[in-house]
Amino acid sequence: MSLGVYIHIPFCAHRCDYCDFATWTDRAHLIDEYVDACVTDLNQRHTAGLLPEANTVFFGGGTPSLLDSPAIQKIIDVIPIANDAEVTVECNPDSVDASKLAAYARAGVNRLSFGVQSMVPDVLGALGRTHDPDNVERSVAWARDAGITAINLDLIYGTSCESIDDWKYTIDATLALRPDHISAYALTVEPGTPLGKAVADGLQTGTDDDAQADMYLLADDLLTGAGLDWYEISNWSEPGAECRHNLGYWNGSDYLAIGCAAHGYTQGRRWWNVRTPERYIEAIQNGTSPEAGSERLEAAAVRDESQALMLRTAAGIPHDSELDLVGNDLAEEGLLTSIEDRWILTRRGRLLGSEVITRLALGRVECQ
Ligand SMILES: C[S@@+](CC[C@H](N)C(=O)[O-])C[C@H]1O[C@@H](n2cnc3c(N)ncnc32)[C@H](O)[C@@H]1O
Ligand code: SF4
Repeated sequence: MSLGVYIHIPFCAHRCDYCDFATWTDRAHLIDEYVDACVTDLNQRHTAGLLPEANTVFFGGGTPSLLDSPAIQKIIDVIPIANDAEVTVECNPDSVDASKLAAYARAGVNRLSFGVQSMVPDVLGALGRTHDPDNVERSVAWARDAGITAINLDLIYGTSCESIDDWKYTIDATLALRPDHISAYALTVEPGTPLGKAVADGLQTGTDDDAQADMYLLADDLLTGAGLDWYEISNWSEPGAECRHNLGYWNGSDYLAIGCAAHGYTQGRRWWNVRTPERYIEAIQNGTSPEAGSERLEAAAVRDESQALMLRTAAGIPHDSELDLVGNDLAEEGLLTSIEDRWILTRRGRLLGSEVITRLALGRVECQ
């Protein structure tokens, strides 16, 4: 069973209008103490025999690329890492330069994930992003100069001012940079964000499901046409360049949570850490657990959850007598297809992934 280590870096230079991730723009003064707390947390787990060799390490955020390379190095150095491990850092194109990326590579980072979102300046403006598309091109070139060739570019589609032509332009311009991985997410209007408030107050239009569906299908056509295969609802990659860390989540592998607001899953137990960086630092400095809560999943819950996650992927889920009745109905509706005794989402099924998962789960309950 492979192990992933997720390290949450809850700092950003600027809050994007759509984002409700656990991140803060006014706490840069905490970065050094926070990194030290992550190192102590990892060391304590190691001493307690709770930190086996990691196959993947993922610095997520927030904006991990706000950390300088000695900080990233300090954390990597206390993780026992497998020889062929995947080590990813999420980056904002505004917070990297050639020397930082070269130093990340020397620290052991071998995969970068850049938040691009759009290549159209007006769309970036509407999302409250601060970078301009030229920064993306430069960042990708610096990554390659540093010897890092595994590169993901994150895109968001369906901003109200974004036309289908804007979206096509974004995909074409992104593909022109030849990343080996692209994630494309439908914009979600999260309550409590500046975007959510503007939509609630009628100052901005929300998202349109039909327009987002058209954009998804266009993305799938263009990305697969360019040799990036679909492998999870929102993810496409060259063969072999799938994100191993995220595949671990979808395949039900264990992962450790380091840092505030991080979620972990080990041996059937799910746990999550305190939400703020202050409380995480305080817990670690006091020698207490940073966990805010946990739950142990029953075998049936583990199976249902794992099926829901696996169904999102191109591997799908195995046929089984409790699923097959509803599976056949969903296949007749064009939402599932059956390949080598596995149920796999069709393109239309991917657009309605949550509905398909709910109907399969209800079908199982009726069978029992
Ligand atoms: C936590 S961010 C990390 C990347 C980095 N902080 C940046 O934005 O440049 C991960 C990705 O989640 C996606 N995301 C965040 N909020 C979203 C939303 N409300 N709707 C759709 N995608 C979202 C964006 O594509 C973003 O790049
Ligand atoms: S999208 Fe990324 S850069 Fe923007 S606020 Fe969220 S975590 Fe920070």
